[in-house]
Amino acid sequence: MPVPPPLRQRILITGASAGLGREMARAWAARGRDLALCARRPDALERLRDELLAATPSAVVSLHVVDVADHEAVDAAVDDAAAALGGLDRVVVNAGVAGGDSLGLDGAEANRTTARTNFLGAVHQAESALRVFRPAGAGHLVFISSMSALRGMGGAMNVYSATKAGVSALAEGLRSDLVGTGIAVTAVHPGYVRTEMASHFPRMLMASDPDRATRAIVAAVEREPARAYVPALPWAALAWPMRLMPLGLYRRVAG
Ligand SMILES: NC(=O)c1ccc[n+]([C@@H]2O[C@H](COP(=O)([O-])OP(=O)(O)OC[C@H]3O[C@@H](n4cnc5c(N)ncnc54)[C@H](OP(=O)(O)O)[C@@H]3O)[C@@H](O)[C@H]2O)c1
Repeated sequence: MPVPPPLRQRILITGASAGLGREMARAWAARGRDLALCARRPDALERLRDELLAATPSAVVSLHVVDVADHEAVDAAVDDAAAALGGLDRVVVNAGVAGGDSLGLDGAEANRTTARTNFLGAVHQAESALRVFRPAGAGHLVFISSMSALRGMGGAMNVYSATKAGVSALAEGLRSDLVGTGIAVTAVHPGYVRTEMASHFPRMLMASDPDRATRAIVAAVEREPARAYVPALPWAALAWPMRLMPLGLYRRVAG
């Protein structure tokens, strides 16, 4: 009797046109995963697909141009991706923006965009993913949160850190809801990473290259933990001190 081939793992990644999403796509394609790549810029997605197929001609890569702030478009993209790949095993809620200013100054529109994209967008992506995972009784929902979720931050980071706190709380509540269903939920908290987004961060403490950060993210995600702080050095070690530090000290250190 021929041994059936191992099932191929099918992963949808949002925000795959740049930064951490693009690096995760590269890492998982190299491991033989089938990928559904989502973002707003079709040209960047097409370049990435061509690169991945050149490196791994047997890879299956589907592209989905979508704005995560549009819930109908997210539903359609997730449905199309599940149809293209024959199902989905993991959805990585990664698309995000940073930008804005302390409230009441000149950053109101950018603050709204950050809130819509990072938090409402995450809600849309989770709703759509779970419409696929719940009937299957299986799946892994991964939220790319941030170390900034651990404490409120001021200035240009205010709304950004609040959206990430929301994303981490969303992940925890869902994990509680989904106990015993076969659906796993992970919240990943990266520290600063030198991507396009970094231009919006006033300070880049202990920043990692995208390559190092992505290796840490992918290794953590594959273990399917409830939460991860990455790269573990220094961020896992700093998670509790960050929470316990008096606000005045935290403000001086982190902004
Ligand atoms: N860089 C850091 O220091 C850092 C630290 C902690 C956590 N994170 C988180 O990691 C995730 C990835 O960030 P990154 O650093 O890789 O940023 P990035 O290089 O700026 O990439 C952001 C990605 O999100 C996509 N995106 C933005 N708005 C979107 C929208 N409305 N709809 C669909 N896609 C959208 C962008 O693609 P299009 O423009 O083509 O749509 C792009 O692919 C974010 O959630 C971020 O908050 C980053």
